[in-house]
Amino acid sequence: MAVDFTGRIPNNVGLADDQRLLRALERWQPRFVEWWRELGPSVFQANDVYLRTAVDIGQEGWAHFGYVKMPDYRWGIFLSPPLPDRVIGFGEHRGQPAWQDLPGEYRADLRRLVVVQGDTEPASVEQQRHLGRTAPSLYDLRNLFQINVEEGRHLWAMVYLLHAHFGRDGRDEADAMLERHSGDPDRPRILGAFNEPTTDWLSYFLFTYFTDRDGKFQLASLRESGFDPLSRTCDFMLKEEAHHMFVGASGVARVVERTAELMRAHDTDDVAPYGGINVATLQRYLNFHYSVSLDLFGGEASTNAANYYTAGLKGRYNEASREDDHRLDGATTAVPGPEGGSIGETHVPALTALNFDLRRDYTADCAKGVARWNRALAGTGLELRLPHEGFNRRVGVFAGHHVTPDGVVLPPDAWAAGAPAWLPTDEDRSHVASLMQPVYEPGRFAGWVAAPSAGINARPVEFAYVEL
Ligand SMILES: [Fe+2]
Ligand SMILES: [Fe+2]
Repeated sequence: MAVDFTGRIPNNVGLADDQRLLRALERWQPRFVEWWRELGPSVFQANDVYLRTAVDIGQEGWAHFGYVKMPDYRWGIFLSPPLPDRVIGFGEHRGQPAWQDLPGEYRADLRRLVVVQGDTEPASVEQQRHLGRTAPSLYDLRNLFQINVEEGRHLWAMVYLLHAHFGRDGRDEADAMLERHSGDPDRPRILGAFNEPTTDWLSYFLFTYFTDRDGKFQLASLRESGFDPLSRTCDFMLKEEAHHMFVGASGVARVVERTAELMRAHDTDDVAPYGGINVATLQRYLNFHYSVSLDLFGGEASTNAANYYTAGLKGRYNEASREDDHRLDGATTAVPGPEGGSIGETHVPALTALNFDLRRDYTADCAKGVARWNRALAGTGLELRLPHEGFNRRVGVFAGHHVTPDGVVLPPDAWAAGAPAWLPTDEDRSHVASLMQPVYEPGRFAGWVAAPSAGINARPVEFAYVEL
């Protein structure tokens, strides 16, 4: 299906040929823009920002770069091209043709999957809305806004599925996406981690590294779905998500680089007096963001996850590369958990352990970035690491237990006594807050973060990524 960029809603799903659907989405659009103006970025809405807009779906040249004012961004609906004769890759329908229309018996489950994924997209925009006030550079400011508009487009992707395939209740769910708000006491966002405001840029970089990465893994497992429109929309979203991963990984890397530079220059581990962020503080922030992101995967043992898999709705990460029956008949998985004062392991049916399976792949992916960050710390005697999976958990088998970053189970009071060494302290937060002074001069960067090695889309680092 060709890309239609002429109508109010750019799309490659043939909206012009479906007047009912087009009208429904055109009614939703002004409400989306109103939401964007009210709860999107709280500054620079009227400025030109050098943004990437999705204009095509091809392997090359799917994006256009140019100046645009954010409320005028062309949020579109793009599905990756259909794979000819695609079959369902796992579960009890394995080998059957992928569903082009919603399978009636899985309507409620699929709606739930689409709603939970969709809800996270506007939530992150809301969480990050004040960060533009304290950006460490125009380069970073632009990257923030790029991710914000793309999370907006990801909401469009899910709202399209709701409108196109779920009838009346789908339209209601699409409306509710704009009625729940991050941190709203009455109508909060669905998942816990999406109700905390992102207060500073260190948190933001760690959020994009760890929490957006949860998004990447959820999208990758939904891309395996037997429901082909969901699979194709997630496949395209993953193209955009790659940039979000980059912003997190390179953002943290630049903070670490600057810290290491200050450590060498002043021959000390305590770079706070010199306007840097100490490795110990970075570690505590990392511990927090990683542990709350692990909670997003849900309980280790989950009958929902088993049912989604058996039904062919949500697969595993890189399902096709797994060398097993893709049904998990009789297979078991060893799942860690607290056991009589230490960490043990139980074997559970692999089908029920799929949240854990996805989380394990996620952890391996997270570890790669940490190893890269540590290269900048070589020779300092310090390093960053991922805390134990049981640390600071609110969801799953570790919830209610007190596990240190090293994986030692403690009584509650001993854990509470140790917590200031493991989670951001008031002192950490006030120091980081004190560093959040905006730098809006092209090519200049705040003192707590190194400049990037290259600009965006072959533009120089000192390019005016936001016109002031
Ligand atoms: Fe997203
Ligand atoms: Fe994202």
